[in-house]
Amino acid sequence: MSEDNIESTLHEDRHFPPSADFIRTASTNADKLASLYTQAEQNNTEFWADQARTEIDWQTPFSTTLDSSNAPFFRWFPDGKLNVSYNCLDRQLEHNADKTAIIFEADNGDVEYISYRELHRRVCVFANTLKAQGIEQGDRVIIYMPMIAEAVIAMQACARIGAIHSVVFGGFSSSSLKDRIEDTQAKLVITADGGNRGGRIIELKATTDGALEQGCDSINSVIVLQRTAHDISMQSGRDIWWHDAEQGQSEQCEPTWVDATHPLFILYTSGSTGKPKGIQHSSGGYLLNAITTMRWVFDINDSDVFWCTADVGWITGHTYVAYGPLATGSTIVIFEGVPTYPDAGRFWDMCQRHCVSIFYTAPTAIRALMKAGDEIPNKYDLSQLRLLGTVGEPINPKAWMWYHTVIGKEKCPIVDTWWQTETGAHMVAPMPVTTITKPGSCTRALPGIDASIVNDDGDEITKANQGGYLVIRQPWPSMIQTVWGDDQRYKDTYWPMFDGKYYLAGDSARRDEEGYFWIMGRIDDVLNVSGHRLGTMEIESAIVSHPQVAEAAVVGQPHDIKGEAVFAYVVLKGERPAGGVDDTLTQELRAWVGEQIGAIAKPDDIRYADNLPKTRSGKIMRRLLRTIAKGEEITSDTSTLENESILPQLQGKA
Ligand code: PRX
Repeated sequence: MSEDNIESTLHEDRHFPPSADFIRTASTNADKLASLYTQAEQNNTEFWADQARTEIDWQTPFSTTLDSSNAPFFRWFPDGKLNVSYNCLDRQLEHNADKTAIIFEADNGDVEYISYRELHRRVCVFANTLKAQGIEQGDRVIIYMPMIAEAVIAMQACARIGAIHSVVFGGFSSSSLKDRIEDTQAKLVITADGGNRGGRIIELKATTDGALEQGCDSINSVIVLQRTAHDISMQSGRDIWWHDAEQGQSEQCEPTWVDATHPLFILYTSGSTGKPKGIQHSSGGYLLNAITTMRWVFDINDSDVFWCTADVGWITGHTYVAYGPLATGSTIVIFEGVPTYPDAGRFWDMCQRHCVSIFYTAPTAIRALMKAGDEIPNKYDLSQLRLLGTVGEPINPKAWMWYHTVIGKEKCPIVDTWWQTETGAHMVAPMPVTTITKPGSCTRALPGIDASIVNDDGDEITKANQGGYLVIRQPWPSMIQTVWGDDQRYKDTYWPMFDGKYYLAGDSARRDEEGYFWIMGRIDDVLNVSGHRLGTMEIESAIVSHPQVAEAAVVGQPHDIKGEAVFAYVVLKGERPAGGVDDTLTQELRAWVGEQIGAIAKPDDIRYADNLPKTRSGKIMRRLLRTIAKGEEITSDTSTLENESILPQLQGKA
């Protein structure tokens, strides 16, 4: 282990109560927050009903709060009707219409301010445009866009007419896009000619064309936003420019009132199998927790400038860019580019220029920017910041302390938020007004969230620091509804143990002496690379589809910045390269995985062997591969291996 690595895993035992500076600016009241726990403990369902009545404008109020008759397919507020876009936009029009909803900063530094009135107008025009393209309530629409305001406009427009969007991250390949189009049976793709990232153009339209060439028969049309204005091809009869499609569309669009259980979106995420799952979210329950967490965890107030750096291609960009902040009438920052362009001061420069008060990002970005040195953030005035957050992976205490001291100047609480695509919103996270934080811990479950740690029998682990399965024992409003088109997979993946009583998050965790949660890692074959979830099987099947590859096994390797890196062991159909090294083939396989899935899944390291370590029953010994990838000594008994002699090759020693 490198020295840096050792330092990054050091413990920090200090506790951090909210600073007096923060408390002075806080909008939530500590006593009120404490009473939420009491209310939820008394009657969880009634607690959520109260929240839903307060936070959401219902067109038809619900009379049933939770229908558990077909568990685990829980239905929240089933007879209530609402519109999510109405709740985000229309309800700001009366008192807040001129407030800035979006501060958009382009890769090249151009800035655009969009008020709530203007956002509402643009969403209505685009919603009518979608209707004119034949999109109706319940139809699926794929959004494959750069991180620009129009991506949020497209999402809100779908929500306005009851269409179900599925946003695909702009870094995914044609094949991944095609899989998602086919699984959703979408009618329409919304994309752009390209996106700008770090001074380079991302060829979104070309990738879309690549996907559509491979099938995707459900697609009738493609709306293309002109963003880069570089040369692309447009297929007549199928492709239409966004600005042409919008011609003549009205600025009025009555929201379509949908049931609270109507799917708002489908978002794909990796699991233990080769095929990503379409996580289906509701409208009412999802929106509710997007709002409550904005209040409890982000302490959002009317004058805040809120910046969540996540792309809308991920759940964080759904809940904390496109929906939660707008539903609370906040001003958000949307940024097209990358944190290191034109230099590693970009985030801090933007925080200063846009007076960002709440900043939310991933530990991987914090680690990368920490590496660039303190003198960069120290050049900027970050005094407007009052709250910092992290998400996506455990934050190591060293990065936490840097964030706290160099960025937060020891006055901003840090909210380390544990949640998942499936949970829709924060589950275990500090409420910064009351919670004393500890570096590396996501602290306690939020009110109404019954998180626990259990053993194999489903019994709660009460002993401090003993690890177990992280479970949620009662349904919560923003929970996953099902896996799109595959109810059985939903049941098998999330409710397989404990007689289907508890939601199984797929993480292991422990609680310390004070009951604080510490996430220990995934229990399944899922990697967390730079805060992104990647299935090892998904990467393995991509590698194996290369004509020269016979077999592959992928494991995670600890990485200073990414948290985890992709490490692949590959068996070729032909001879193993001399000494186990073939840089040309390695580059080719990396590019291949990039084409099959997307650049985020490219292996950092590939090691060639004549075989993989298997038990006599033919099972690949992944634990052993993980030990080797970490560069650790093998201490376990390897005599049960069918092919023990393979070890030196796997270790790179032969
Ligand atoms: O392993 C946990 C990790 O990320 C997984 C969820 O990934 P995804 O669905 O892509 O959503 C990421 C953004 C919500 C979890 O099962 N994870 C997420 N947040 C944290 C975390 N691990 C530790 N600490 C966190 N704060």
